[in-house]
Amino acid sequence: MRRKLAAGNWKMHGLTDALAEVKALTDAHPDPDVDLLLCPPATLIAQMAWARGTHALQIGGQDCHAEQAGAHTGDIAAAMLKDAGASHVIVGHSERRADHAETDADVAAKAAAAHAAGLIAVICIGETLDQREAGHALAVVTAQLQGSLPEGATAANTVIAYEPVWAIGTGRVPTLDQIGEVHGTLRAALRDLMREASGVRLLYGGSVKGANAAEIFSVPDVDGALVGGASLTAADFSPIVTALENA
Ligand code: 13P
Repeated sequence: MRRKLAAGNWKMHGLTDALAEVKALTDAHPDPDVDLLLCPPATLIAQMAWARGTHALQIGGQDCHAEQAGAHTGDIAAAMLKDAGASHVIVGHSERRADHAETDADVAAKAAAAHAAGLIAVICIGETLDQREAGHALAVVTAQLQGSLPEGATAANTVIAYEPVWAIGTGRVPTLDQIGEVHGTLRAALRDLMREASGVRLLYGGSVKGANAAEIFSVPDVDGALVGGASLTAADFSPIVTALENA
């Protein structure tokens, strides 16, 4: 059985006052029936860890460096995220692949660093619109999975998030058949890559909202969501959490 995961990626949003949303979210879901994860900007991790109190809310970073420490001005090591209160870190988000030219090999190295620090790596993959329209979506995500999954990945230390680039922040969502096709393909590909494939959680991400969450969560092999814009407020994120609890 895979425990479902509702994950929020705040991206470059959030000052201290955004912690009020954490209180509202944890008050709305005092004992969630799913794993709940928020990935705020690194500046808020320690404060969010304090703000959650004894709640089961999990906290993640949005990126880490592939090395444990060193002369890398402006970067953050996985152990630093852990030290601040994180249990997870997103790696290979398409915005980082695009903005920072991160390759699959870079992502695999970051995921390995996360594992070495005791963090769960949330590895993101997803095709562009051009790749989808050319009929290459399945080949692209399979290759990204193969290239981004590090040695030593297990069901316990790794989550995969399928985020089609064209669905992120656009309000455009793949059909349920398209999501199911990709998730089924990823599950099969994982079986070739690792032993615990059936235990790895596969998240869908890209324009998930309260209004479409329930139908997305009805798709086989969708074990939760990685949510951007709709994770910024408890009012928007809470219905998604509830939909996952009811899935
Ligand atoms: P949106 O939910 O805003 O489309 O963002 C998805 C995403 O990129 C989460 O990592």
